Amino acid sequence: MPIMACLQSCTWDKLGDKKDFVLASVEMGRWAFGVLILLWVLFPLANSSVDGLDKVRGVNLGGWLVVEGWIKPSLFDGIPNGDMLDGTQVQFKSVTLQKYVSAEGGGGMNVTVDRDVASTWETFRLWRVSDREFQFRCFGGQFLTSSEGDLISATASSPALNETFYVERNDTRVHIKLLGGNYVQATMNNQLTANYQGLPGWDDNAATFEMTIAANNLHGDYQLANGYGHDKAKEVLMKHQRSFITAGDFAFLSRHGINTVRIPVGWWIAQDPYPPAPFVGGSLESLDRAFSWAQFYNLKCIIDLHAAPGSQNGMEHSASRDGSVDWPSPDHISQTLDVIDFLSARYVNHPALLGIELLNEPSAAAVPLDVLVSYYMRGYQIVRNYSSEAYVIICQRIGNADPMELYQANIGDSNIVVDLHYYNLFDPYFDDMNAMENIQFIYESRVPQLQSLDSANGPLVYIGEWVNEWDVTNASQLQYQMYGRAQLQAYDAASFGWSYWTLKNDRMHWDFEWNIKHKYLLLGSSSMKTPNNFVWLTVTCGVLLCALSGMT
Ligand SMILES: *[C@@H]1O[C@H](CO)[C@@H](O)[C@H](O)[C@H]1NC(C)=O
Ligand SMILES: *[C@@H]1O[C@H](CO)[C@@H](O)[C@H](O)[C@H]1NC(C)=O
Ligand SMILES: *[C@@H]1O[C@H](CO)[C@@H](O)[C@H](O)[C@H]1NC(C)=O
Ligand SMILES: *[C@@H]1O[C@H](CO)[C@@H](O)[C@H](O)[C@H]1NC(C)=O
Ligand SMILES: *[C@@H]1O[C@H](CO)[C@@H](O)[C@H](O)[C@H]1NC(C)=O
Repeated sequence: MPIMACLQSCTWDKLGDKKDFVLASVEMGRWAFGVLILLWVLFPLANSSVDGLDKVRGVNLGGWLVVEGWIKPSLFDGIPNGDMLDGTQVQFKSVTLQKYVSAEGGGGMNVTVDRDVASTWETFRLWRVSDREFQFRCFGGQFLTSSEGDLISATASSPALNETFYVERNDTRVHIKLLGGNYVQATMNNQLTANYQGLPGWDDNAATFEMTIAANNLHGDYQLANGYGHDKAKEVLMKHQRSFITAGDFAFLSRHGINTVRIPVGWWIAQDPYPPAPFVGGSLESLDRAFSWAQFYNLKCIIDLHAAPGSQNGMEHSASRDGSVDWPSPDHISQTLDVIDFLSARYVNHPALLGIELLNEPSAAAVPLDVLVSYYMRGYQIVRNYSSEAYVIICQRIGNADPMELYQANIGDSNIVVDLHYYNLFDPYFDDMNAMENIQFIYESRVPQLQSLDSANGPLVYIGEWVNEWDVTNASQLQYQMYGRAQLQAYDAASFGWSYWTLKNDRMHWDFEWNIKHKYLLLGSSSMKTPNNFVWLTVTCGVLLCALSGMT
């Protein structure tokens, strides 16, 4: 009885009315709760098809051909001075003046040593030349230079020898000297000059600075390759590419009903085996292997251009050197189109190819919509030039952008897909949500968005990234199962399908294989078909919310 009452009260219209659920759950005995959970967890998932194909039930091969340090931190373990990689943000405080070094106006002018507090003008991004030699990039993009005599200024637009400094470290203290040998000091009138007399000790003197590492969050291909240097980087990456993902993983995926892998690649793959420094070759051969494994285990591949020249989002997974976003320039865009041409020519007739994703996660703040749409249109044409079948996948901008913007853009006529990434993470909005609120968010926010896009009579919808992780601390296995099930229910309704981020990860809750083996994510069967995903969602959502309120 209470089960029926609950199911009936939980219609779609009433989702917002929590009182009903609470009342219903109070009536529920423990047995009823148990049965509900069992029913809900055991129910197979709905699955329907796109153009006669099964929908995509995919997994991303993240951190494989495009490095992401947080996925496998040990890749960076052997880099000398490994906390001073490209893009690391540092601040310097004179130990004699007790003031921070500052690029006036963020760059383009003098450098002073006169700030009590370090903020953007006082923060410099490293460009690493060797493990002891660095260039310092200001907030405005200029580099510190010694080209104006003794005075250090923040006026160089590109770095060369006069912009390269040798850094000696002793714990948190540093000396900075020119390649010519002169040490940099903070003068009594608050300037930064390269004329310290003699060899400074580590006591409180004008050439000694306290270095603070303000941010050290870039661990991508650029940092790895430039940090190790070419030969060692090649060795580390070869080993990684051969061991991180293997044929055995494809067998595992196929056993668990996964039908697609989304494979992030970097732009340098098009110049394999000799890409421009510091990038190293090898990813093309690995991608070839992935296609063979996919064919053998009857999986499809989506090639995802995750890292574009210049970086489209400033993050490590777009191989940004220092956090800047330089992709939206005609040169970079034309180079990117060449990469799409290369990938299309090579893979479009491979039986395992499902589609090509033109660009992952362009930044809404740094990539104007018109620039992106024009790129997508040209990319679509290139893929279509080789194939009328291959799906062309375009990714929504990340940050403040409505995916509807791509539905209205008219990018291509056929087999076009918009990729949305759904994480209940990376936004303070989710910080204080408990398990139930997270699940409610899936049904009350994600599902309606999916419904409106699915019915927009435009491109297909693809949840190309999602994960069974959230900001809830110490959640139980059952709570994870419910959250995972809610997401699967919701994303199964996407017209193209979904792919989990990611196959392997040092953080277990992000690791697909860990989730499956430890039963934190219950995939269910993919064989059952339902006529209407959203009716199905309504019912299971009701069961779920009842069960959750019963738990608290
Ligand atoms: C900045 O440089 C100009 C010209 O070299 C100089 O006149 C001025 O005093 C400098 N300002 C500081 C704060 O050092
Ligand atoms: C490098 O700096 C010196 C002075 O410190 C200057 O004479 C020289 O022209 C600079 N070189 C370049 C390429 O700017
Ligand atoms: C680091 O500084 C301390 C004094 O603060 C000194 O005793 C030590 O020898 C220094 N280490 C190196 C490697 O220079
Ligand atoms: C399509 O292919 C033709 C013939 O190879 C070529 O001339 C044209 O530039 C290509 N179009 C695009 C958008 O690549
Ligand atoms: C989570 O669990 C750990 C280990 O049991 C415990 O130390 C920690 O306090 C818990 N955190 C919260 C927020 O409950």
